[in-house]
Amino acid sequence: MAGEENHRQIVLVGFMGSGKTTVGRRLAKLLGIPFIDTDSLVEKKAGMTAAEIFAASGEQRFRELETAALGEAVQAPAAVISAGGGLPAQPENAPLLAGRTVVYLEVPLDVVRRRTKGDTSRPLLARPDLASLYEARCRIYAGVATVTVDAASDDAEAVARTVADRLHLSV
Ligand code: S3P
Repeated sequence: MAGEENHRQIVLVGFMGSGKTTVGRRLAKLLGIPFIDTDSLVEKKAGMTAAEIFAASGEQRFRELETAALGEAVQAPAAVISAGGGLPAQPENAPLLAGRTVVYLEVPLDVVRRRTKGDTSRPLLARPDLASLYEARCRIYAGVATVTVDAASDDAEAVARTVADRLHLSV
């Protein structure tokens, strides 16, 4: 289909719990292209979980590894890339996102809280100012996105199909 080549690389952004990984996997499957998760690349390279990296070396070190992971991910000729929630907030990542198809999976904060309840794998969820972080991040995601999709539904398959539809991709 015409224009499809432009969307062979799709970067998903959004807050923790927005479904970037779950929806991303489904979307990649629907499109028959690989799925890449920057968090997984970071953890693989470091040989540690994100929480362990934050605890042992600090957030800044995690951000450096994350930028390297995004740089590696965008080398793939075709892929759905789930970008860690903090990635679009780092100015050094702007050139890596520029000109790409970036889809913002938008979810209300109460959905985030429900989906991430009891999750200890993401250190930032413990922040007392989570609501202000959420507000600030949402503005950033909207600013980098080429398309914003309502991802409040827990039906990941339906959200993935909506993303494909909004990008005019046949699945
Ligand atoms: C983070 C989000 C996490 C992970 C790390 C930091 C953030 O990824 O990269 O815990 O700053 O929002 P997900 O958005 O995939 O949960």
